[in-house]
Amino acid sequence: KVVYILNGPNLNLLGKRQPEIYGSKTLDDVCRLCEIMGSEVGVEIVFRQSNAEHELIDWIHEAREKADGIIINPAAYSHTSIAILDALNTFDAPVVEVHISNIHKREDFRHHSYVSGRADAVLAGCGVDGYLLAVRHLADLLRSKA
Ligand code: DQA
Repeated sequence: KVVYILNGPNLNLLGKRQPEIYGSKTLDDVCRLCEIMGSEVGVEIVFRQSNAEHELIDWIHEAREKADGIIINPAAYSHTSIAILDALNTFDAPVVEVHISNIHKREDFRHHSYVSGRADAVLAGCGVDGYLLAVRHLADLLRSKA
């Protein structure tokens, strides 16, 4: 089974960007931890980040052919992008949304995520552990579907 983990804008700066909110691990650290968790639960991880909305959309389209599930941290596009929601609605397998911070505890404009209208599960406020919990949950979902 293959799981795409897609990361939106500014997450390339993870570790340097507002560490008091997002922690000190880099996105490369998170990628490595996800690969370790993936190998423990028997899923192959494809891990990507883009600052461009269209690139995230193209990867979701690619996932239609190549992935059994998507984990996505759409970052700020969560709160703005109907286009990413529409793309995820073309994807016919489980989607898990991850936010490192608890978006509900922050500014009002972060409280709503378009992607949550499609996601099968949402993790927010677990720090980067949210990604690992998401990998485990998605692997469980895929096993129970098989
Ligand atoms: C985020 C929360 C978003 O509101 C923010 O724009 C991000 C990161 C998170 O992981 O906590 O860039 O998705």
